[in-house]
Amino acid sequence: MAKRIDDLKVVGNKRITNDLFILVLSGNDKLPDFKPGQFVQARADGSHDTFLRRPLSIHDVDYDQNTFKLLIQVAGKGTFALSKLRAGDYLNLVYPLGNSFTLPDKNDRVLLVGGGCGAAPLLFLGKHLKSNGYTPNILLGFRNSDRIIEIDEYNETGNVFLTTEDGSKGEKGYVTSHSVLYNRRYDRVYCCGPDSMMKAVADYCRKHNINCEVSLENLMACGIGVCLCCVVDTVKGNLCTCIDGPVFNIKDLKW
Ligand SMILES: Cc1cc2nc3c(=O)[nH]c(=O)nc-3n(C[C@H](O)[C@H](O)[C@H](O)COP(=O)(O)OP(=O)(O)OC[C@H]3O[C@@H](n4cnc5c(N)ncnc54)[C@H](O)[C@@H]3O)c2cc1C
Ligand code: FES
Repeated sequence: MAKRIDDLKVVGNKRITNDLFILVLSGNDKLPDFKPGQFVQARADGSHDTFLRRPLSIHDVDYDQNTFKLLIQVAGKGTFALSKLRAGDYLNLVYPLGNSFTLPDKNDRVLLVGGGCGAAPLLFLGKHLKSNGYTPNILLGFRNSDRIIEIDEYNETGNVFLTTEDGSKGEKGYVTSHSVLYNRRYDRVYCCGPDSMMKAVADYCRKHNINCEVSLENLMACGIGVCLCCVVDTVKGNLCTCIDGPVFNIKDLKW
């Protein structure tokens, strides 16, 4: 898919908590056919510390409105600069980047597992699965109920199950201890979130012979396969997370 570099208009910046927000961006031209799992590289203007673009997943796409969303957690100066954008501002992006999740086989029982802001690509993936005739189970974990993101949208996409670390909503604990992971059988699991969570889910899937794809969030600089700073050691050799990923099947990872 051809890459674009474009100034996109910010049409909204929805604050969820003091460190979580959703940017809604409008395309100048018709948006490309994004694939779930793909990401953008955003230029966060502001200081020399934010010279490198920041990778962010496509969170949701509305082709009727010609808009898409980025779900962002403030981690440092780049994401802080992005949090200050307001409707009417412009954000320079290189997009769409990376590979995508693969569709399950017909009749596969599907589970999506996401933790916190790491779950960003799962809403678009869930909608894509739904439009292809699947009704996935969606297991989402958050620190507490204030940080639950876009739950109504997820509910329209599949059967949602929640965990919170403080027990304020859903089962108390981490997604990796939720009963819906252990008490039901799955053929296909898609997972995004912190590495430790993805590794635990990958272990479970390996043990139970479940086809599983994870989306890696390795540090990136160029985002286009040039600098090699995002290399991941796989059974197929060293691969770039930015162009060979970010989505990998766990059978290819040396976890
Ligand atoms: C393919 C991909 C998709 C991503 N999607 C999203 C998304 O949808 N929403 C979102 O909020 N974040 C996402 N991230 C993470 C995001 O890119 C980083 O949080 C961001 O680049 C940090 O920039 P900063 O200037 O704010 O912080 P920095 O000052 O650069 O770093 C602050 C802290 O965050 C850590 N950090 C930096 N980059 C990453 C990273 N890639 N993964 C984990 N920790 C990091 C640093 O080690 C440091 O501790 C994604 C990363 C990748 C590789
Ligand atoms: S970020 Fe430069 S090669 Fe992947």
